[in-house]
This record gives sequence, structure tokens and C-alpha cells, in this order.
Amino acid sequence: MLAGIADDVTRSVVDPVIVEAGAGTGFYLARVLAGLRAASLRMAGTGPLGIGTEISVAAARRLAKCSPDVAALVADTWDGLPLADSSVNLVQVVFAPRNAAEFARVLVPGGTLVVAGPGERHLEPLRTEAGMLTPEAGKADRLEAGLAEYFTPGVLHEVDTIVTVPGSIAVDLALMGPSGVHLDRTDLEREFDGREQHVRLHIEARTFHPVI
Ligand SMILES: C[S@@+](CC[C@H](N)C(=O)[O-])C[C@H]1O[C@@H](n2cnc3c(N)ncnc32)[C@H](O)[C@@H]1O
Repeated sequence: MLAGIADDVTRSVVDPVIVEAGAGTGFYLARVLAGLRAASLRMAGTGPLGIGTEISVAAARRLAKCSPDVAALVADTWDGLPLADSSVNLVQVVFAPRNAAEFARVLVPGGTLVVAGPGERHLEPLRTEAGMLTPEAGKADRLEAGLAEYFTPGVLHEVDTIVTVPGSIAVDLALMGPSGVHLDRTDLEREFDGREQHVRLHIEARTFHPVI
């Protein structure tokens, strides 16, 4: 989904610059860049550049190796991105903090912000059975309100599918993210280990455009 959005919004740009803020190990950024690299073979130019920013040095080390098209920067999104004004065609944020003013500053006019996060059915029924935190209601409205000073909303894209995972992966899913600190691995292993689980993946990605 993210690769498709990136391809769409940078289609007319030669050598687009894509930034992922809070990029983790670069799992998504590498795949977005691979898609753009394949598309760029049709165009003159050196190809796309990906820049991942990360507060974690350990994650940034892995991010630096995720793709030959990706550079890694250690930076706290709240302190600002170490990037020039109007230098980026697309900023993507996947389950990571958002600094609207900074994203607006680094984007070129006509650039795009993509924010991906959990939809309301994400990880069900595991979420309920494992006692994970429930996503807050009205999340989309709050996202728009939080960005409204700098961005106007564009399009909503969704992934909504069910996957079957081994019990051990269900335990890891329950423990990762904000619920992890409240849960006990031994209890979860007792409940889920050795039993395949059907888990819903419900992800929403919203595009936004800088207010002119
Ligand atoms: C849930 S992970 C998502 C990682 C990546 N976007 C992905 O989806 O694979 C959140 C990431 O944001 C990073 N992060 C948290 N706070 C941050 C901050 N203030 N500045 C930069 N990165 C931050 C974390 O280190 C972590 O790698």
C-alpha cells in the first residue's frame, strides 16, 4: 500500500526524495524505494533517494543497511529534522511520532505527507483476547485536527485482511507496541503458544498536503 501511494504521488517527479520519520529498521522504506527504483528505470535521472530518521541508534544502524537507496539519520522528530526547507517530495510516518510543522517545512510545495497507523479493528480478535489496549475512538479526527494548521487531508487508503499466524507470533504481536508493558509473556504463551491464530490486519494510511 505504501509503495503504491509513493508511486502515485511522485509519478511526475524525477529523482524523488522520500523521508520516513521514525523509520525503525527501514522495513517499509526499503520496499517503497524498491518500487520507486523499478518505476524510475523508465525515467532519466539517478533515481529516488530515501532518508530514514530514527531516535534509536541501534535501529538506525539497521536502517542504514536496508537498501542502497536509503540513508539513515539519527534524529529526534520532536527536535526537528536535519533536512533543508522544501527538499522532500514525500514524508511517510508509519506508527511513529508526527511533527507537523517540521514535515511541512521540509516538503516541497505540492509534496505529500502519508500517515499510516492502526485502524479500529487492527489485530482483532487477538487484541481483545490478549487484553491489549483498545485504540482510542475518534483517532482519525484527532489526526486531522493535529495536522490542520499545516496540512489539508487527502485520501484514505486501507489494508484490511486476515492472516493466520503461529501462536508464538501471536504472542510477539501482543507484546509489541504500547500494550506490551502491561502484559505478561508467560501468561500469553500459556494461552496462545502452539495454537494458530487468525489475526486481522487493519491499517489506515492517510495522505495530506501542505497548506499553501
Ligand atoms: C512502532 S516503530 C515503527 C518503525 C517503522 N516506522 C515501521 O513501521 O517499521 C516506532 C519507531 O519510532 C521511533 N521513534 C520513537 N520516537 C521517536 C522520535 N521522537 N524521533 C524519531 N524516532 C522516534 C522508534 O525508535 C521506533 O523505531
